This record gives sequence, structure tokens and C-alpha cells, in this order.
Amino acid sequence: METNAKKPTLFSGIKPSGTLTLGSYLGAISNWTRYIDDYNSILCIVDLHTITVRIPPAELRRNSLTQLAYYIACGIDPEKCVLFIQSHVPAHAELAWVLDCYTMFGELSRMTQFKDKSAKNADNINAGLFTYPVLMAADILLYNTDIVPVGDDQRQHVEICRDIATRFNNICGETFRLPTAVLPKVAARVMSLSDPTSKMSKSETGDQSGCIFLTDSKDDIVRKFRRAVTDSEASVYYDEENKKGISNLMSIYSSITGSSFDQIANDFAGKGYGDFKLAVAEAVCDRLMPIQEKANALLSDKAYLEQVYSEGAARASALARRTLDKVYRKVGFVAKPRMGRMPEAGK
Ligand code: TYM
Repeated sequence: METNAKKPTLFSGIKPSGTLTLGSYLGAISNWTRYIDDYNSILCIVDLHTITVRIPPAELRRNSLTQLAYYIACGIDPEKCVLFIQSHVPAHAELAWVLDCYTMFGELSRMTQFKDKSAKNADNINAGLFTYPVLMAADILLYNTDIVPVGDDQRQHVEICRDIATRFNNICGETFRLPTAVLPKVAARVMSLSDPTSKMSKSETGDQSGCIFLTDSKDDIVRKFRRAVTDSEASVYYDEENKKGISNLMSIYSSITGSSFDQIANDFAGKGYGDFKLAVAEAVCDRLMPIQEKANALLSDKAYLEQVYSEGAARASALARRTLDKVYRKVGFVAKPRMGRMPEAGK
């Protein structure tokens, strides 16, 4: 895909730390597909971010390719965007180092995700976990990004990205465009089906009955929705404070079908929760089953996936290099010699 100077730029990414969930699909991916035609879209599999938490190497490799297949199956057409794997574009790590030097210890200490993750990984509170938002800022700023479509939990990270960019611009002169986080109108925070007070998450421990994975079978999806925690009132209407479970199911249903909360309340007036849960499960299955089928077909064509991520890396590298060169000039690094002119070792 050629970038079009007239179109604004979109950047987003997901960690290949596990199987994609309905949360990341409704909170992020389905929003990407909405914008893809009107934006220069740069979409990433953020594997560098994933190793802040320990993961077996074979699993990370497998997840990354599976995620690529699922992106495409969800409607992220590689012909319409730049689709790549973060570690293939070294400029991300390079800019992150520069930005580390323009980010304050105090502001990173206040990040809620750092506090949560360090509480969950008390035996591995590594420096990468702490500087994670700086790498994310580098991802976004490398591409002169206008919008970052993410779920609600990433809002704070986009805010700190703006703060870092502003600080750099003030010290070194106008360099970075300030990005805006774009959240979906509904389902910006999909909650766990078994505990609607906590976010649906791939890292959920235990039996994972509260999390819908994009790879789940129809039976599993129906079973998980049937068991979804609700309340004893047996009346379908939206009340985020007092009916967290039902409100979460309504958000999922609304996001997939496009029905408003009022319409849903009307359609299910006088019906029990059982009927509503089944309707939500069916809507989710109708959406996910064709995606699974397409992803499985793509996964059996490794050559195609390799072609997609190779072309994506070349395209992203060229775009990212322009910004990195500008940043290096601004901070005072001597211009890099052309690699072709470097003397061979020993001569
Ligand atoms: P990650 O991998 O945790 O989540 C990926 C995306 O899915 C959204 N999401 C949800 N939305 C609604 N409800 C949920 N239950 C839910 N779970 C996940 C997240 O908000 C996110 O948009 N730091 C990022 C990845 C990242 C990134 C970036 C994103 C790295 N660099 C640059 C945007 C731009 C993360 O951990 O997302």
C-alpha cells in the first residue's frame, strides 16, 4: 500500500501474548476496519512489548503468526494498510531509547497498567515493564500518527505519549504530531463474563470461562454466555452501576448488531435472561465463525503470511526511518555513514 499524503494516519497494535479475545476484537480490531479506507493505516503485532512478561519463545512465534492471520481474517486487508511485526522494524527500539531520555521516572511510576502488572508479576518487575509506555510512544510517534484506535485501558498510555511528544517538541523543536486515542462508542471496555467487575482479558487465570477467545468453538461460546454472571432482576435494560453483567452483554450485542440499548431493551422486554444470553451468543458466533474459517485457511499458507509481513516491514521501515533520522539530527547525533561505504572488517 502506498501512503497517501492527503489522508491522516492511524496506528495501533496488539500484543501476541496469547489468543485474541472478544475484548481486543470489539475494543480495537473492529474499529480499525471502520477507519481503514479513510486513513493511512499502520497496524502492528507488537512482539517487543510482549516479552515484558515471560513467554516461551515457540509460543510467542506461534502467537505472532496466528495473530497476523486473524488480523487479515477480521478484515484488515494487507492491500489497504501497512501490516507488520514490530521486531522487524528496529526503529521502534531505537526511538524508544531516545524517548526514554525525555520521560520522567515519576510519570512512568503513575501508570496504572505498570502497577497492575507488577502486582501480578511480583517476581519479574523488570525495567521493560516500567518503560513499556515509552516503547508504545515510539510506536505511535514514528509514523506521525493522528489517531490511535484502542480500548479504554490504553487511554492513559496514549496520554503519556502526548506528554512525551510535547516535552520533546518543546526541548528540541517541533518534531512529533500529537496523536489522539479513539475509543469505540460501545464496548470500549468489555468485561469478563464470569466477573463483570473486571476486564475481559487473555491473561485471566483459572478456567477462563469469563473470556471469549476468537478461536473458541461454537459450543464453548454458547456455554460461556449461558453461564455469564448477571443479576436476579430478570429484566434486560442498561444500568452500568447496578446491572454490570447485563450491561456488559448489551454492549457486546450492541457492538455486533448495531442495535441501540433502547432497542435491545425493547426487543427483549418480557423475555428472560436465558433468551437474551442465547441471542448474544448467536450474534457472537455468527461474527466469529467465518473469521475462524478464514484464519485457518490463511494459517495453512505460511508463504503468503511471510510475504505480507515482509512487505509490511519494508514499508514500515522506510516510513519510520524518516522520523528517526529527523530525531537523531535534532538531538545532535552525527549523520550515519551510508552502510555501502563502510570499510570491510580487517581492511
Ligand atoms: P493489548 O494487547 O493488551 O490489547 C490490544 C487492544 O485491545 C484492547 N482491549 C480491549 N478493549 C475492550 N475491552 C477489553 N476487554 C479489551 N482488552 C483489550 C486494548 O485496549 C488494545 O487496544 N499496549 C497495548 C499494545 C500497543 C499499542 C501500541 C496499542 C503497543 N504499542 C501502540 C496502540 C498503539 C496493549 O497492551 O494492548
